Amino acid sequence: MAETSKFWDKTAEKYARLPITHEDDYLTKLKVTQSYLQPEMRLLECGCGTGGTAIAHAPHVAHIQAIDFSENMLEKARLRAREAGASNIAFECADITLIPKPKVPYDMVLAMSVLHLLKDPDAVIVKIYEMLAPGGYFVSSTACLGDSMGYFKLLAPIGRAVGLLPILKVMSTEDVTAKIEASGFEIAHRWKPGADRALFLVARKPQ
Ligand SMILES: C[S@@+](CC[C@H](N)C(=O)[O-])C[C@H]1O[C@@H](n2cnc3c(N)ncnc32)[C@H](O)[C@@H]1O
Repeated sequence: MAETSKFWDKTAEKYARLPITHEDDYLTKLKVTQSYLQPEMRLLECGCGTGGTAIAHAPHVAHIQAIDFSENMLEKARLRAREAGASNIAFECADITLIPKPKVPYDMVLAMSVLHLLKDPDAVIVKIYEMLAPGGYFVSSTACLGDSMGYFKLLAPIGRAVGLLPILKVMSTEDVTAKIEASGFEIAHRWKPGADRALFLVARKPQ
């Protein structure tokens, strides 16, 4: 079923102005991701938001397809990419849960701060696996609320009902790792900078 972009459309203006949380972690994740990039690679970024990650990786690859289901987020992303002169990013308004398999598989798919925002992350992980070429990489950063904030299982549906929260899937570090491995990926890099920090994974589809 299609998920809703309403929360993110409302949030885009504020999100674009917010400083990056734990900027050092973010910069490390960019650096680690870039260590896997090659100039001929074609990437898909799911839930690209205001475009910062795609813009950072653009000079290192051939092309990035950056999708988000919030038009308001994409408006900010397109403007930022133009200002940065990043001409090899194609922004598209699309729901990750509904996009078709590409004719040519991607070399890398990114989902930064996205998996915990999906009703059915397992289905999306399987889809990502199918969209990748053998040997391709799935890079993700995921809030693991189940590690220390299990009470969100109760709060999340209430927050969502009153429009204060988006869909929030409460998963632990082990849950996320197990879901990715169960889809057939091998974990190439795993980093969790602190108990309350997002889990960063680089997973590889076997050859
Ligand atoms: C927390 S923001 C992260 C944005 C960006 N990846 C970053 O790290 O700053 C989550 C983004 O995912 C998008 N999103 C959530 N569910 C989505 C879906 N089913 N399809 C496409 N985009 C989605 C939201 O619109 C939002 O822009």
